[in-house]
Amino acid sequence: QRPVLRLLSCPGTVAEDLRRDEQPSGSVETGFEDKIPKKRFSEMQNERREQAQRTVLIHCPEKISEKKFLKYLSQHGPINNHFFYESFGLYAVVEFCQKESVRSLQNETHAPSKGMEVAIPFRSRFFNLKLKNQTSERSCVQMSNQLPPSSKKLFEVLCDAESVDDQLNALLKEFQLTEENTKLRYLTCSLIEDIAAAYFPDCVVRPFGSSVNTFGKLGCDLDMFLDLNETRNLSTNKTSGNFLMEFQVKNVPSERIATQKILSVIGECLDNFSPGCVGVQKILNARCPLVRFSHQASGFQCDLTTNNRIALTSSELLYIYGALDSRVRALVFTVRYWARAHSLTSSIPGAWITNFSLTMMVIFFLQTRSPPILPTLDCLQTLAELLLKEFFEYFGNFAFNKNSINIRQGREQNKPDSSPLYIQNPFETSLNISKNVSQSQLQKFVDLAQESAWILQQEDLGGPSMSGNQPWGLVALLLPSGANRKSLGKKKSRKPASEKVKVLLESIKSNRTENFTNTNGK
Ligand code: GTP
Ligand code: MG
Repeated sequence: QRPVLRLLSCPGTVAEDLRRDEQPSGSVETGFEDKIPKKRFSEMQNERREQAQRTVLIHCPEKISEKKFLKYLSQHGPINNHFFYESFGLYAVVEFCQKESVRSLQNETHAPSKGMEVAIPFRSRFFNLKLKNQTSERSCVQMSNQLPPSSKKLFEVLCDAESVDDQLNALLKEFQLTEENTKLRYLTCSLIEDIAAAYFPDCVVRPFGSSVNTFGKLGCDLDMFLDLNETRNLSTNKTSGNFLMEFQVKNVPSERIATQKILSVIGECLDNFSPGCVGVQKILNARCPLVRFSHQASGFQCDLTTNNRIALTSSELLYIYGALDSRVRALVFTVRYWARAHSLTSSIPGAWITNFSLTMMVIFFLQTRSPPILPTLDCLQTLAELLLKEFFEYFGNFAFNKNSINIRQGREQNKPDSSPLYIQNPFETSLNISKNVSQSQLQKFVDLAQESAWILQQEDLGGPSMSGNQPWGLVALLLPSGANRKSLGKKKSRKPASEKVKVLLESIKSNRTENFTNTNGK
């Protein structure tokens, strides 16, 4: 029996800690070293950031010839790649091969001619292209899609699949971030970094959360972390002789106050100078202070935080888990979509379970399979199709009243307090990441999980071939509860409802006892 994934004792780079296990010096083999993504999270982030710095965003006229557009821009230097997308107008993202090309383009760009309002002369990398003379050309650019599919489109794709397993993968394919969407996210961070750099020239604005942890879906928010560490550590090693030079600085009583002050001025800057940033809200009294705004051109809802390095570490951890096997992501995407379809999650903060908590629950569930699926990947091959059903069975019958979820150790533990749902923060172990969740929201989750397990159990008996025109598999799961009961009732129900629930509960119980025995019998 291999140990479940060992987490870090302190936040640093997750991948490095895991790679250390590859050394023969008495370390424990975790069995998945070769599956850790080859590119380190920080390397991937730095590469993408450097690409983004060579990239510009251009609002284009509706009728544009792609060829002429590229020829015009190439005056400033060779173009590495580009794409167009639509979001209240036509936009182009153009990545030059060299940074100097951006400077050259900026030098040749005019401030807008004066109208009724006065322009703030801020020279960003977000441009507006106009035609000097109207042309009769038809626009024939190929658009890159930045939006998630509609429910109708999704349901069509799901109904065309051949098994529930196929449905999970199809859902992942439809919703996962595209290369272009990822580029747009890094570019947006880079544009915000330009603004923050007016105050803190060496700052870095990094995306974190689902934009980079491989669990993001098209349309998800863009979480940004303003990293001032570069500024803080800039000259730590450059002391010589007996002298030590320090900056004269203002001091404040706590980290929190420093964070609030920094975010407050950046918020003002975004509001006043940054083209395309609208609806800027400073939410400085939150547990984790943030500035929230919409970046109109990209369509992203952005949350900017600082002094939040732990969140970056969590993102790296999930990035590694996501890379272990695509089925991990398929299961997370499906559970998240299922939760959204039943209003278990919401875009408004409140007593609901968050996507982050749901992701942690899936990981915990995969760690506690018998044998554990994270990290032993061989098991995934055989278990893939059953995972969704088992996930619902597992949490449909989890002793939330007394146990907490512990990702560090991959096992249940007694709850340290009376929060309805307790998921220990793997990096700040005295905190509960789902402290906000109310008893009634948790109960709703449990009820829906039980119902969904039951629906999938019926699928085992039927599947697509037996379903005729009825929604099946994931589609049946995503419909409102009433509709499920009705259609499945018509299709397969022979026993009275109470009987069915009894059978289901029995099956969940026996399943659970079996798992329990297996886990403890080793
Ligand atoms: P989306 O719903 O797709 O945005 O998922 P997300 O993972 O990006 O979640 P969200 O935007 O709510 O939070 C962004 C990141 O902040 C998460 O990925 C976590 O790293 C971190 N985070 C969110 N909620 C918590 C929490 O309650 N505790 C801690 N420690 N970190 C959190
Ligand atoms: Mg997010």
